[in-house]
Amino acid sequence: MGGVFFTKRMNVNPDDERGANMELNGEKTALPPWLKAFSLEGKIALITGSGSGLGREVAKGMAMSGAAVVLADINKGAVEDLAAELARAGLQGVARRVDVTDADNVREVMDWTV
Ligand SMILES: NC(=O)c1ccc[n+]([C@@H]2O[C@H](COP(=O)([O-])OP(=O)(O)OC[C@H]3O[C@@H](n4cnc5c(N)ncnc54)[C@H](O)[C@@H]3O)[C@@H](O)[C@H]2O)c1
Repeated sequence: MGGVFFTKRMNVNPDDERGANMELNGEKTALPPWLKAFSLEGKIALITGSGSGLGREVAKGMAMSGAAVVLADINKGAVEDLAAELARAGLQGVARRVDVTDADNVREVMDWTV
């Protein structure tokens, strides 16, 4: 259910084959190039404030684009809920508590991420 919800919100149709026979950087792909060009597969994204609002939507978008997302927020429960929602949609997200006003804490989460 989550995946369908995300797709509708992003107004992306995964069945849209436009351009599927084109090459991207010399590589032929089964994916439409317009989609592959934005792929974040193999990347890790660290999103602070991802427990709510803008950060939450950005985190969902990055996960939909293939990134493994570190969901960081002062509200650990909120990011745990989002991690579970992503997992149900087959996407990758892990929840970490962070207080962005605490430089040492931010450094810890960055070190853990990379
Ligand atoms: N420039 C603009 O046009 C514009 C428009 C909208 C929002 N904003 C700003 O963007 C930011 C996010 O807006 P929103 O609507 O998504 O807010 P929101 O309140 O929905 O989300 C903020 C998130 O940050 C988390 N958070 C708060 N303090 C934290 C801390 N110390 N460490 C880590 N996480 C913390 C909260 O738990 C929450 O999950 C706000 O600062 C808002 O003012 C700017």
